[in-house]
Amino acid sequence: MKFLEEFAPLAGRSHLQVLAQTDSTNNRVKELADAGAPSGAAVIADRQTAGRGRLGRSFSSPAGVGLYLSYLLRPTLPEDRLMTVPALAAVAGARAVRRAAGLDCGIKWPNDLVCAGRKVSGILTELVPTQSGPAVVIGIGINVHEQTFSPDAAQVAGYLDAWTDCPVSRGELAKALLEELDGLETLDGLREYRAACLTLGRTVRLLRPDGTQQAEALGIDRDYGLIVRYGDGREETVRSGEVSVRGLYGYIE
Ligand code: BTN
Repeated sequence: MKFLEEFAPLAGRSHLQVLAQTDSTNNRVKELADAGAPSGAAVIADRQTAGRGRLGRSFSSPAGVGLYLSYLLRPTLPEDRLMTVPALAAVAGARAVRRAAGLDCGIKWPNDLVCAGRKVSGILTELVPTQSGPAVVIGIGINVHEQTFSPDAAQVAGYLDAWTDCPVSRGELAKALLEELDGLETLDGLREYRAACLTLGRTVRLLRPDGTQQAEALGIDRDYGLIVRYGDGREETVRSGEVSVRGLYGYIE
């Protein structure tokens, strides 16, 4: 099936570009933000040649197998709530996966989407100052169809079709995702995020520039920070960075 046929369910959506290839859909949406595009404008690519992930990593984006989508949000949230957008995007993404693939989908803090213990999606949000105030670019990559992962990624990653009877339509998934993102600012996100968060109640390893630290993941605060307790009883709220979760992906001890 040609990729454009798979994205047919999106016909009629305004301010949406579906491209065969681009370096990064986040770059295209940043340009749209600068050019004055409205909230809800989005770009999808069948393939990315320089897909970007969190923490400066690259995001492998081969043709024909994934959904690579970036969405422009011109927030109405107060500026001091903008840091909640990455977590809200994860809630929207998990909802879309449940709707379009019929799979259970959880969230690994801060915003990886996880099905059957495998990472199926990552989210990179970027703040863009524009003449009309701050805009947020929400970039989501979802592994949909069968694909071969690099040896490192293979320890962690999965794709949706691995658990479904019929192939998941990238068009139906994108449609559900865009609908959920359109409602992102009115989500009761905190309750849903906490319910979906697979990190809670588990032992985690916090990856810090000066080494790793083990802790118990206790809760999620109202700003979506991860509340942890160290072995000496000290508690801290972690707001950014990477945690590995015991029993999930490669961290099994
Ligand atoms: C991560 O897992 O670290 C986040 C990955 C985010 C990938 C998506 S794919 C669409 C958008 N364009 C990019 O270059 N990155 C995001």
